[in-house]
Amino acid sequence: MIQPDWKFAMVIGASSGLGEQIARKLAATGCRVALVARREDRIRRIAIDINGPSLHLAIPFNFDVLDFENAATNFEHIIQDLGGLDIVFYVAGVMPMVGPTEYDIIKDKNIVDTNLIGAMAWLNPAAKRFERAKAGTIVGVGSVAGDRGRRGNPAYGASKAGLECYLESLRNRLAVQGVNVVTVKPGPVETDMTAKRGKQPFMISAQKAASLIIDAAKRSNRTVYVPWRWWLISRIIRMIPSFIFRRLNI
Ligand SMILES: NC(=O)c1ccc[n+]([C@@H]2O[C@H](COP(=O)([O-])OP(=O)(O)OC[C@H]3O[C@@H](n4cnc5c(N)ncnc54)[C@H](OP(=O)(O)O)[C@@H]3O)[C@@H](O)[C@H]2O)c1
Repeated sequence: MIQPDWKFAMVIGASSGLGEQIARKLAATGCRVALVARREDRIRRIAIDINGPSLHLAIPFNFDVLDFENAATNFEHIIQDLGGLDIVFYVAGVMPMVGPTEYDIIKDKNIVDTNLIGAMAWLNPAAKRFERAKAGTIVGVGSVAGDRGRRGNPAYGASKAGLECYLESLRNRLAVQGVNVVTVKPGPVETDMTAKRGKQPFMISAQKAASLIIDAAKRSNRTVYVPWRWWLISRIIRMIPSFIFRRLNI
């Protein structure tokens, strides 16, 4: 069950995958939800689906997180239309395919801009607002890929490691003000992002992951692996000495 005081939520990256499922689950409890993403047709369709003929729970907002300069203004505009804000989820992210010998700074910059700088642009105003209110919850979606420098996608891993550090700093600033900052670190989840990569070990559905993320947001003010088994797997992976890790194709 969602905490009764979550009446207004913002989901940044709500047009598919984890963000869409988080938004649907929040709305199912009566929470008003702002759906933020670039693909307007998709957020509109999801809002229509959630609202049906009589409800006004979901509102689509067509914004690009890369519009850093206007992020704070857009953030406030959404809150005015929504009626308030109790919790914000930063779910937006990209993970393009990267070849084993590819070093493309344009691609890398887009990954870091979306996954990390976009989070700062949108969560800084959230931190400011919640700090003043002495209440609120910020949830950022990291990844187990941020735990170690894997060979597959250097910029993606770096963006998620940076995001975790940024969120920890926010948590340490805001905990004394009664604001929760939760970092969730999913393992593989079946979404558009992973579709081209096929089935992966311990993969879970986006619906299941969304439920676990909402549970984590209700219960904690810390980093939570989704599902829990990734905490154990990650501890083991972190303990592998570097000279062995570089020989492993993970
Ligand atoms: N799937 C996994 O296995 C997995 C595992 C660990 C962590 N994660 C993380 O979970 C998050 C959600 O990913 P997903 O798997 O649900 O993938 P997804 O279905 O591709 O969703 C990505 C979301 O990010 C939004 N987004 C991307 N760039 C954006 C931009 N410039 N402005 C606004 N929104 C933007 C997309 O919306 P638009 O394209 O419409 O803008 C979409 O709503 C990501 O941060 C990802 O790194 C995923």
